[in-house]
Amino acid sequence: MAGPRVDILTLFPDLVEPFLKGSLLGQAVRKELLEIHVTDIRAFASDRHRTVDDTPYGGGDGMVLRCEPTVAAVESVHTPGARVLALSPRGRVLDQALVGELAAETQLILLCGRYAGFDERILQETGADELSIGDYVLSGGETAALVVTEAVTRLVPGVLGNPISPLEDSFVGGLLEHPLYTRPSVFRGREVPEVLRSGNHAEVERYRRQESLRLTAERRPDLLEPGVLGEEDRRLLQELGHGKYSRDS
Ligand code: ADE
Repeated sequence: MAGPRVDILTLFPDLVEPFLKGSLLGQAVRKELLEIHVTDIRAFASDRHRTVDDTPYGGGDGMVLRCEPTVAAVESVHTPGARVLALSPRGRVLDQALVGELAAETQLILLCGRYAGFDERILQETGADELSIGDYVLSGGETAALVVTEAVTRLVPGVLGNPISPLEDSFVGGLLEHPLYTRPSVFRGREVPEVLRSGNHAEVERYRRQESLRLTAERRPDLLEPGVLGEEDRRLLQELGHGKYSRDS
Protein backbone atom coordinates (compact mmCIF):
# COMPACT_ATOMS: atom_id res chain seq x y z
CA MET A 1 0.00 0.00 0.00
CA ALA A 2 1.56 3.28 -1.10
CA GLY A 3 -0.36 5.58 1.25
CA PRO A 4 -1.78 5.45 4.75
CA ARG A 5 -4.87 3.50 5.67
CA VAL A 6 -7.52 6.15 6.37
CA ASP A 7 -10.38 5.46 8.78
CA ILE A 8 -13.21 7.96 8.99
CA LEU A 9 -15.32 7.56 12.15
CA THR A 10 -18.64 9.33 11.93
CA LEU A 11 -22.30 9.31 12.96
CA PHE A 12 -23.19 9.97 9.30
CA PRO A 13 -21.51 7.40 7.04
CA ASP A 14 -24.07 8.15 4.31
CA LEU A 15 -22.72 11.66 4.11
CA VAL A 16 -19.13 10.70 3.37
CA GLU A 17 -19.39 7.44 1.40
CA PRO A 18 -20.58 8.86 -1.95
CA PHE A 19 -17.71 11.35 -1.99
CA LEU A 20 -15.17 8.61 -1.30
CA LYS A 21 -16.46 6.53 -4.21
CA GLY A 22 -16.19 9.39 -6.68
CA SER A 23 -13.35 10.61 -8.87
CA LEU A 24 -9.82 10.71 -7.57
CA LEU A 25 -10.43 9.10 -4.18
CA GLY A 26 -12.48 6.23 -5.58
CA GLN A 27 -9.89 5.59 -8.28
CA ALA A 28 -7.05 5.55 -5.76
CA VAL A 29 -8.90 2.99 -3.64
CA ARG A 30 -9.76 0.86 -6.68
CA LYS A 31 -6.10 0.93 -7.72
CA GLU A 32 -5.27 -0.23 -4.16
CA LEU A 33 -2.99 2.76 -3.64
CA LEU A 34 -4.61 3.32 -0.27
CA GLU A 35 -7.45 1.97 1.88
CA ILE A 36 -10.27 4.17 3.12
CA HIS A 37 -12.73 2.77 5.65
CA VAL A 38 -15.83 4.38 7.11
CA THR A 39 -17.05 3.35 10.56
CA ASP A 40 -20.41 4.26 12.07
CA ILE A 41 -19.82 5.35 15.67
CA ARG A 42 -23.44 4.55 16.52
CA ALA A 43 -22.76 0.84 15.88
CA PHE A 44 -20.64 0.92 19.06
CA ALA A 45 -23.37 2.31 21.32
CA SER A 46 -24.25 -0.49 23.69
CA ASP A 47 -27.34 0.91 25.44
CA ARG A 48 -30.87 0.11 24.34
CA HIS A 49 -31.40 3.46 22.63
CA ARG A 50 -27.98 3.52 20.97
CA THR A 51 -27.22 6.95 22.36
CA VAL A 52 -24.08 8.63 21.16
CA ASP A 53 -24.48 12.05 22.77
CA ASP A 54 -25.64 13.60 26.02
CA THR A 55 -26.05 17.01 27.68
CA PRO A 56 -22.92 18.76 29.00
CA TYR A 57 -22.08 18.64 32.71
CA GLY A 58 -22.28 22.20 34.04
CA GLY A 59 -24.97 23.13 31.53
CA GLY A 60 -24.79 24.90 28.20
CA ASP A 61 -26.10 24.51 24.67
CA GLY A 62 -25.70 21.51 22.44
CA MET A 63 -24.94 17.90 23.00
CA VAL A 64 -21.60 16.27 23.71
CA LEU A 65 -20.32 13.11 22.00
CA ARG A 66 -20.14 10.34 24.62
CA CYS A 67 -16.98 8.49 25.56
CA GLU A 68 -18.04 4.84 25.42
CA PRO A 69 -19.16 4.42 21.81
CA THR A 70 -16.58 6.83 20.42
CA VAL A 71 -13.58 5.29 22.16
CA ALA A 72 -14.82 1.79 21.28
CA ALA A 73 -15.09 2.83 17.61
CA VAL A 74 -11.51 4.15 17.63
CA GLU A 75 -10.22 1.00 19.32
CA SER A 76 -12.00 -1.21 16.78
CA VAL A 77 -9.93 0.19 13.88
CA HIS A 78 -6.71 1.19 15.64
CA THR A 79 -3.49 -0.47 14.47
CA PRO A 80 -0.06 0.11 16.07
CA GLY A 81 1.39 3.55 15.27
CA ALA A 82 -1.95 5.01 14.13
CA ARG A 83 -2.32 8.80 14.22
CA VAL A 84 -5.69 9.74 15.69
CA LEU A 85 -7.08 13.14 14.66
CA ALA A 86 -10.28 14.65 16.00
CA LEU A 87 -11.69 17.22 13.56
CA SER A 88 -12.44 20.37 15.51
CA PRO A 89 -12.13 24.14 15.09
CA ARG A 90 -9.97 24.06 18.25
CA GLY A 91 -7.19 22.13 16.54
CA ARG A 92 -3.95 22.87 14.74
CA VAL A 93 -4.86 24.40 11.39
CA LEU A 94 -4.17 22.18 8.38
CA ASP A 95 -1.62 23.39 5.85
CA GLN A 96 0.31 21.70 3.05
CA ALA A 97 3.27 20.91 5.33
CA LEU A 98 0.96 19.04 7.71
CA VAL A 99 -0.71 17.26 4.76
CA GLY A 100 2.75 16.01 3.76
CA GLU A 101 3.36 14.78 7.30
CA LEU A 102 0.03 12.95 7.38
CA ALA A 103 0.66 11.29 4.00
CA ALA A 104 3.72 9.59 5.51
CA GLU A 105 1.75 7.95 8.35
CA THR A 106 0.70 4.29 8.25
CA GLN A 107 -2.83 4.92 9.51
CA LEU A 108 -4.95 8.05 9.97
CA ILE A 109 -8.03 7.78 12.16
CA LEU A 110 -10.24 10.78 11.49
CA LEU A 111 -12.81 11.28 14.18
CA CYS A 112 -15.77 13.44 13.16
CA GLY A 113 -17.63 15.34 15.83
CA ARG A 114 -21.17 16.69 15.63
CA TYR A 115 -23.20 18.65 18.13
CA ALA A 116 -21.24 20.78 20.62
CA GLY A 117 -18.10 18.66 20.63
CA PHE A 118 -16.25 15.68 22.11
CA ASP A 119 -16.16 14.64 25.74
CA GLU A 120 -12.61 15.71 26.62
CA ARG A 121 -11.79 12.19 27.82
CA ILE A 122 -12.21 10.83 24.28
CA LEU A 123 -9.21 12.91 23.25
CA GLN A 124 -7.20 11.84 26.29
CA GLU A 125 -8.04 8.15 26.00
CA THR A 126 -7.38 7.84 22.27
CA GLY A 127 -4.36 10.18 22.18
CA ALA A 128 -6.12 12.22 19.50
CA ASP A 129 -4.71 15.52 18.30
CA GLU A 130 -7.34 18.04 17.29
CA LEU A 131 -7.19 19.22 13.69
CA SER A 132 -8.97 22.21 12.16
CA ILE A 133 -9.34 22.99 8.45
CA GLY A 134 -9.67 26.73 9.08
CA ASP A 135 -10.91 29.46 11.37
CA TYR A 136 -14.63 28.96 10.85
CA VAL A 137 -17.18 26.62 12.39
CA LEU A 138 -18.77 23.71 10.54
CA SER A 139 -21.75 21.74 11.79
CA GLY A 140 -19.66 18.60 11.94
CA GLY A 141 -16.27 17.14 11.13
CA GLU A 142 -17.35 15.14 8.05
CA THR A 143 -16.55 17.72 5.39
CA ALA A 144 -13.28 18.48 7.21
CA ALA A 145 -12.35 14.77 7.22
CA LEU A 146 -12.99 14.65 3.47
CA VAL A 147 -10.77 17.69 2.95
CA VAL A 148 -7.96 15.98 4.87
CA THR A 149 -8.47 12.69 3.01
CA GLU A 150 -8.41 14.32 -0.42
CA ALA A 151 -5.37 16.47 0.32
CA VAL A 152 -3.46 13.44 1.65
CA THR A 153 -4.55 11.15 -1.18
CA ARG A 154 -3.16 13.45 -3.88
CA LEU A 155 0.31 13.02 -2.38
CA VAL A 156 0.25 9.23 -2.52
CA PRO A 157 2.55 8.08 -5.34
CA GLY A 158 0.54 6.90 -8.36
CA VAL A 159 -2.66 8.78 -7.51
CA LEU A 160 -2.12 11.73 -9.82
CA GLY A 161 -1.60 11.13 -13.52
CA ASN A 162 1.44 13.35 -13.57
CA PRO A 163 3.74 12.47 -10.68
CA ILE A 164 5.49 15.86 -10.59
CA SER A 165 2.34 17.92 -10.23
CA PRO A 166 2.20 17.96 -6.39
CA LEU A 167 5.66 19.52 -6.43
CA GLU A 168 4.34 22.42 -8.45
CA ASP A 169 1.20 22.96 -6.41
CA SER A 170 0.41 26.19 -4.71
CA PHE A 171 2.11 26.26 -1.29
CA VAL A 172 4.80 23.72 -2.07
CA GLY A 173 7.88 25.92 -1.95
CA GLY A 174 5.85 28.42 0.05
CA LEU A 175 4.38 30.43 -2.86
CA LEU A 176 1.02 30.62 -4.61
CA GLU A 177 0.79 29.10 -8.06
CA HIS A 178 1.37 31.29 -11.13
CA PRO A 179 -1.51 31.80 -13.63
CA LEU A 180 -2.10 29.05 -16.20
CA TYR A 181 -3.37 29.26 -19.78
CA THR A 182 -4.42 26.84 -22.51
CA ARG A 183 -5.71 27.28 -26.05
CA PRO A 184 -6.99 29.45 -27.68
CA SER A 185 -4.15 31.99 -27.60
CA VAL A 186 -6.70 34.83 -27.73
CA PHE A 187 -10.07 34.64 -25.96
CA ARG A 188 -12.41 37.65 -26.32
CA GLY A 189 -9.42 39.84 -26.93
CA ARG A 190 -7.47 38.51 -23.91
CA GLU A 191 -4.09 37.22 -25.02
CA VAL A 192 -1.92 34.54 -23.48
CA PRO A 193 1.31 36.29 -22.36
CA GLU A 194 3.83 36.27 -25.22
CA VAL A 195 6.60 34.71 -23.12
CA LEU A 196 4.59 31.50 -22.61
CA ARG A 197 4.40 31.04 -26.37
CA SER A 198 8.07 31.87 -26.94
CA GLY A 199 9.43 28.36 -26.41
CA ASN A 200 12.19 29.87 -24.28
CA HIS A 201 12.16 27.58 -21.27
CA ALA A 202 14.36 29.76 -19.05
CA GLU A 203 12.23 32.83 -19.77
CA VAL A 204 9.04 30.87 -19.08
CA GLU A 205 10.44 29.73 -15.71
CA ARG A 206 11.49 33.27 -14.82
CA TYR A 207 8.07 34.66 -15.76
CA ARG A 208 6.24 31.99 -13.76
CA ARG A 209 8.42 32.51 -10.69
CA GLN A 210 7.84 36.25 -10.90
CA GLU A 211 4.07 35.78 -11.23
CA SER A 212 4.06 33.42 -8.23
CA LEU A 213 5.96 36.03 -6.25
CA ARG A 214 3.62 38.80 -7.40
CA LEU A 215 0.47 36.90 -6.41
CA THR A 216 1.94 35.84 -3.08
CA ALA A 217 3.09 39.38 -2.24
CA GLU A 218 -0.31 40.80 -3.14
CA ARG A 219 -2.59 38.15 -1.63
CA ARG A 220 -0.64 36.27 1.01
CA PRO A 221 2.29 38.39 2.18
CA ASP A 222 2.20 36.30 5.38
CA LEU A 223 3.72 33.43 3.33
CA LEU A 224 6.81 35.46 2.44
CA GLU A 225 8.65 34.68 5.63
CA PRO A 226 12.39 35.20 5.90
CA GLY A 227 14.05 32.20 4.28
CA VAL A 228 11.44 31.69 1.54
CA LEU A 229 12.98 34.27 -0.79
CA GLY A 230 16.31 33.91 -2.55
CA GLU A 231 18.42 36.70 -4.06
CA GLU A 232 16.83 36.26 -7.50
CA ASP A 233 13.34 36.32 -5.94
CA ARG A 234 14.08 39.67 -4.32
CA ARG A 235 15.26 41.02 -7.66
CA LEU A 236 12.08 39.77 -9.37
CA LEU A 237 9.92 41.40 -6.68
CA GLN A 238 11.85 44.64 -6.94
CA GLU A 239 11.16 44.72 -10.68
CA LEU A 240 7.47 44.60 -9.78
CA GLY A 241 7.83 47.48 -7.33
CA HIS A 242 7.72 45.32 -4.20
CA GLY A 243 10.88 46.92 -2.81
CA LYS A 244 10.18 46.03 0.79
CA TYR A 245 11.36 42.47 0.13
CA SER A 246 14.78 43.70 -1.00
CA ARG A 247 16.50 42.43 2.17
CA ASP A 248 15.75 39.50 4.44
CA SER A 249 14.38 40.98 7.64
N1 ADE B 1 -15.67 20.91 12.97
C1 ADE B 1 -16.33 22.07 13.04
N2 ADE B 1 -15.64 23.07 12.52
C2 ADE B 1 -14.44 22.53 12.08
C3 ADE B 1 -13.28 23.05 11.46
N3 ADE B 1 -13.16 24.35 11.16
N4 ADE B 1 -12.29 22.21 11.18
C4 ADE B 1 -12.39 20.90 11.48
N5 ADE B 1 -13.45 20.35 12.08
C5 ADE B 1 -14.47 21.15 12.38
